[in-house]
Amino acid sequence: MLLTIYLSLLFLALYLLGLVVRRLVFLRDKRRVERESRSGERVIARVDEMRPGSVKKFWLICQKYRIDGFLINYQGDFHAYVNRCRHMTTPLDFVRYQFFTEDGQQLICMTHGALYDPRSGLCVDGPCKGLSLYQLPVHVDRGEVFVGCPSGELSVLAD
Ligand code: FES
Repeated sequence: MLLTIYLSLLFLALYLLGLVVRRLVFLRDKRRVERESRSGERVIARVDEMRPGSVKKFWLICQKYRIDGFLINYQGDFHAYVNRCRHMTTPLDFVRYQFFTEDGQQLICMTHGALYDPRSGLCVDGPCKGLSLYQLPVHVDRGEVFVGCPSGELSVLAD
C-alpha cells in the first residue's frame, strides 16, 4: 500500500516536472521568435538561399501554440504550409527530409503518399483528396522571406 502511494507521488511529480519543462521551452521559443520577427512575422529565409525546388522547415509561435511549418520555393514563388498532412496528423516528411515528388511538381506526404499542389496546398490525390494543407501567410521584403501566423482558431493545429 505504501509503495503504491510512493509510486503515485513519484509519477505525479514527474508529470508536473514535465509540464514545467514544457512551459519553459515554450517561453524560450516564444522569446526567440519575438527577436527574429518584424511586424509579427518571422524571417524564415533569405531569397537568395532558396532556389526553386528548395524547402526550409521552421516553427512559429502562434497564440499559445507552437506550429511546425515548411517554406517552399516553387517555380520562383514562395509558399508556406503547416507541416501536417490532412489525412493524419503526421508531418509530410515523416522520416526523411523530403517534401517534393521526384519530378518536383507536387508535394508528397511520405506516410501514405498523398499528393498536394504546391501552389495551393490542395490534396489532389490520396486519402485526403479534396482537403488542403493549412496555408501560412508569406511575403518577401528586401530579400527576406517572412512567414506569419494564420488567423482564426488555431487549436486544430496544436500538437
Ligand atoms: S498521413 Fe499523409 S497520406 Fe496518410
